[in-house]
Amino acid sequence: MTVRTIVAMPGDGIGRIVLPEAMRVLEATGFDSEYVHGDIGWEFWCNEGNALPQRTIDLLAEHKTGLFGAITSKPKDRAAAELSPGLQGKGYVYYSPIVGLRQLFDLDISIRPCRSFQGNPLNFVRKGASGGIEEPMVDVVVFRQNTEGLYVGVEWTDPPDEVRKAFETHPKFEPFKDVPGPDLAISTRIFTRPACRRIVEEAFEYARRYGYRSVTICEKPNVIRETSGMLEQEASEVAGQYPDIERWSTNIDAQTMWLTKNPEDYGVVLSGNMFGDIISDAFAGLVGGLGFAASSNVGREVAIFEPTHGSAPKYAELEPSIVNPIAMILASAMMLDHLGETERADSIRSAVGKVVADGEIRTYDMMKIPGGPGVIEKGAATTRQMTDAIIEALPSAPIAAGGR
Ligand code: NAI
Ligand code: MG
Repeated sequence: MTVRTIVAMPGDGIGRIVLPEAMRVLEATGFDSEYVHGDIGWEFWCNEGNALPQRTIDLLAEHKTGLFGAITSKPKDRAAAELSPGLQGKGYVYYSPIVGLRQLFDLDISIRPCRSFQGNPLNFVRKGASGGIEEPMVDVVVFRQNTEGLYVGVEWTDPPDEVRKAFETHPKFEPFKDVPGPDLAISTRIFTRPACRRIVEEAFEYARRYGYRSVTICEKPNVIRETSGMLEQEASEVAGQYPDIERWSTNIDAQTMWLTKNPEDYGVVLSGNMFGDIISDAFAGLVGGLGFAASSNVGREVAIFEPTHGSAPKYAELEPSIVNPIAMILASAMMLDHLGETERADSIRSAVGKVVADGEIRTYDMMKIPGGPGVIEKGAATTRQMTDAIIEALPSAPIAAGGR
């Protein structure tokens, strides 16, 4: 069996708590791997002026697979003020290292599964037609384009003359032509056909592999004709090769309205960067929120897996820790899927499912109580107890390498 090397990047705050927990679960499944530590996050910004040191980039380029905890980010000015004295005023500018990694390695596809676990008290419920309570099981996988769209950072306040001139060639710019520069802010939304094509193909392929019956393109092509339109166009072409899978289109605004009406009807949902960011959080909210939401950042060569939550600084120092490790553990299961270790990945998801359904062990978020040191007295499990329960629920028979 080949031993894989994983770059473990705990980052900041609770990232340092949940990542080692996920590694314990991976080990308990018998996944044979080595971990190399990757420096990333606030400490390296403060001491080196770089939250994403080159040595971490080199490790990822070499080993290709990363597990990431979370980082702390702060607005530019506050970041600059926290630089170590020797680095202050030397022109260092803070950039989010996870956004940096997505761009550097062209991690253009983010996959965000949003699946209800039976018995999760955080599951979405609604009132049925006859007045009874319904708890629809959601099984949605959001594909978010991760590198383009409105988040590319091509933007200006007071755009330079040549940019203004270029905009003035567009008839729809007419109402803005006399706006003074300092009063004019422009953020551009850029889509490219190859990136649209790639995510569409990956989404349909995923739907087929995992048995989803539909792929929904969730954009706004009636208004944002060029960019949303390009994604739609590519989807309609690719869909032709997948007669077994239905192609649906929804508008992002309507989709958020329908979200609570019939979330169980959706399968794979595909969006550009910003709408994907929004709709994946919206669906995650139906299945448990931050304690359960995991995502991947997948490029052609490198892939990084992470929980959606941040560093939750207010819980970082609590001893024992009370945060929910499930999001990070589900992220590590996604990593196993990516590495072809499907059976091991499934074993983790079903162990999580058993623990949630059993209901004996629940972190504070699952009890719907405010976090803090007092939650353990109220019956909340610690981070470690949750992980232990998941490990306990794993199948006892060894799993062969490589999956199915
Ligand atoms: P956050 O996700 O860190 O925490 C928000 C709240 O959600 C927490 O206070 C806690 O109540 C709850 N929460 C989060 N994770 C949880 C878990 N595993 N179990 C139980 N409860 C959990 O978001 P916030 O407070 O907006 O940001 C804190 C820092 O994290 C900021 O510096 C922010 O920039 C950064 N951040 C980093 C992200 C990343 O590394 N990908 C993503 C989001 C925020
Ligand atoms: Mg988000």
